[in-house]
Amino acid sequence: MSHDVLAAADHAMRHWLGAEPGRIRLGSDAHKRLFCRMLLDTHNPYKPAVIEWPALSEDALHRITSLPIWDIAVQTEGKAKLRVATYTAMVNDPLLHEALTMDGDEEARHKVVLSKMVEAYGIALAPEPTYEIPSDPEWGWLVTGYSECIDSFFAFGLFESAKRTGYFPADLVDTFEPVMQEEARHILFFANWVAWHRRQLSLWRRITFECKVMRAWLFLIWERIGIAKGLDNNGEMQDANFTLTGHEQIGIELKPGELLDLCLAQDSYRMDGYDPRLLRPTFVPRMARLIRRFLR
Ligand SMILES: [Fe+2]
Ligand SMILES: [Fe+2]
Repeated sequence: MSHDVLAAADHAMRHWLGAEPGRIRLGSDAHKRLFCRMLLDTHNPYKPAVIEWPALSEDALHRITSLPIWDIAVQTEGKAKLRVATYTAMVNDPLLHEALTMDGDEEARHKVVLSKMVEAYGIALAPEPTYEIPSDPEWGWLVTGYSECIDSFFAFGLFESAKRTGYFPADLVDTFEPVMQEEARHILFFANWVAWHRRQLSLWRRITFECKVMRAWLFLIWERIGIAKGLDNNGEMQDANFTLTGHEQIGIELKPGELLDLCLAQDSYRMDGYDPRLLRPTFVPRMARLIRRFLR
C-alpha cells in the first residue's frame, strides 16, 4: 500500500466527530449512539492475510524474535476475543451488539496479525492453553476492558520509544500502528460503556456492579504485582512481566519518569482526535501523573 493511502487510513481512524449536535448526557441513548458509532465508523478494514511482512536485517530479526512478548501477546488476544464474544452474546441492544461484535472481531484479527508475523519470522511460541469461557460474561468483559486500559497505556509509550530508537524497523512500526490505535479505540469505547452502563442500573444492581468493578481492579493489580514479584521463576509467566520491564528489554535508556511522560503524551496523541463529548479513560493516566511527581 502506498504511504498516502496508509496515512489517510491512519488519520481516519484517529479523528472522529459524532454527527448528532449538542450536549450529550452520560448514560443517555445519544451517549450510547456516540460511543458505538465511534467504534463502528473508525474501523480500519485491513486484512492480515495480505500484510507483506518486511524483510528484516539479521540484526533486527534477532531483536524481534528474541523479544519475550509474543507468547503473552498471542494468548492475551485469544483470551480477549473469547471474553468479548461471550459478553456480546448476552447483549440484546442491536447497536451495542454490533459495536461489541466489531470489538471482539478486532481482537480476533489482532491474534491473526500476530500469528502471521510469528510465522513469517519463525518465532517459536509456547503451545497455547485452552481458553476458558468465563462463567460470568460481564466479569470477563470488565477484566479485559480494564486490563487493556492499563496495558495499552504503557504499550503506547513503549511502542513510540521503540519507533524512535529504531529498535522496531520502520516498516514493522507501520504494520503495528493500526493495532495500537485499535487498542486506543477499544479503551475509549470501554470507558464510555462503563459510564453508560452504570447509569442503566437500579440502585441494587448498581452496587453489585461497582463491587465487581472494584474486584476487577484489585484482581488486575494483584496479577501485576504477582508478576513483578517474579511468579515467572518457572518460566511460564515470564513474558507477562513485559509491561514492567519492557523498557529494559527493548534497550531503551529512558528514566522511568521520562517513560511515563512519553506514555502520557502518546495517550493524549491517540485520544485527542475523537469527539470531545466522549469520556476518556482517566484512571491510569491519573495514577501515572501522580507517580510521576515522585520520579526524576
Ligand atoms: Fe487486542
Ligand atoms: Fe483491544
